[in-house]
Amino acid sequence: MDRDQSFFRVDGLSKAFGGLLAVGDVSFLVEKGSLTSLIGPNGAGKTTLFDLISGFLPADEGRIVFKGRDLAQQKPHDIVSLGMARTFQHLGLFTQLSVWDNVFLGLPGKRRERLWGVFLPRLILRREERALEERTREILDYLGLTEKAGERVANLSWGDQKLVSIGRLLATDGEFLLLDEPASGLSDEQIEHLKSLLRGLVSRGKTILLVDHNMEAVMDISDWVIVLNFGKIIAEGKPAEILANEEVVRIYLGV
Ligand SMILES: Nc1ncnc2c1ncn2[C@@H]1O[C@H](COP(=O)(O)OP(=O)(O)OP(=O)(O)O)[C@@H](O)[C@H]1O
Ligand SMILES: [Mg+2]
Repeated sequence: MDRDQSFFRVDGLSKAFGGLLAVGDVSFLVEKGSLTSLIGPNGAGKTTLFDLISGFLPADEGRIVFKGRDLAQQKPHDIVSLGMARTFQHLGLFTQLSVWDNVFLGLPGKRRERLWGVFLPRLILRREERALEERTREILDYLGLTEKAGERVANLSWGDQKLVSIGRLLATDGEFLLLDEPASGLSDEQIEHLKSLLRGLVSRGKTILLVDHNMEAVMDISDWVIVLNFGKIIAEGKPAEILANEEVVRIYLGV
């Protein structure tokens, strides 16, 4: 069965750091409405691939095509406005600000206020602000963070900080979400919450590309799994196919 290329694909993507080929001639696609996972040992090139896709690093070679557009020369904020957003392995939150502010500041639509605020009647501004507040409330509610809205992010548990980073992702209203190791450092209970959260997002129409080391979780929630080793794709397929792949089991799962 042919897989649909039209939503997102990378083609012959490469990136070297000095003599080290971190990502070497990588091609794959992500189908709209799927949860696709990228797995591989430490240093396999997963985060580098995210950095390339989201415009934080320029590729040496290859193409990144999102909804028919080549992203090669695009900057991170342009890519976000096209509907793609990512989290970071090290979260990148404003830890001295509240949970509320971290999500609120991630919402688009405040630029207009800055540029045109002086000319717009107060009433319109107030209405826009209320809509942004409403959206923040919705996101915090969806993530179960309502009670913690006023807390400083620095004072939260790691698990809650991860939820805030997902909140910022949802604030962008992007349809394609890239998550770098959302399950790392979480308790079993938090991982169960995360799993249903991610599947819930997919059933609400989001497309997810996930990097994680938690194999059980990955195999449980993914529609498609891509295995990277030393910057190259060594296998891809449905979770059951990956679990049955001898090379993957040998190289990665270490069995
Ligand atoms: N900015 C950089 N400069 C030089 N080398 C880098 C840089 N970023 C990554 N690398 C190297 O590129 C390779 C791929 O790193 P990357 O962070 O993409 O791996 P990863 O698959 O995300 O690993 P992990 O599972 O540990 O997060 C590693 O050998 C790493 O040391
Ligand atoms: Mg990484």
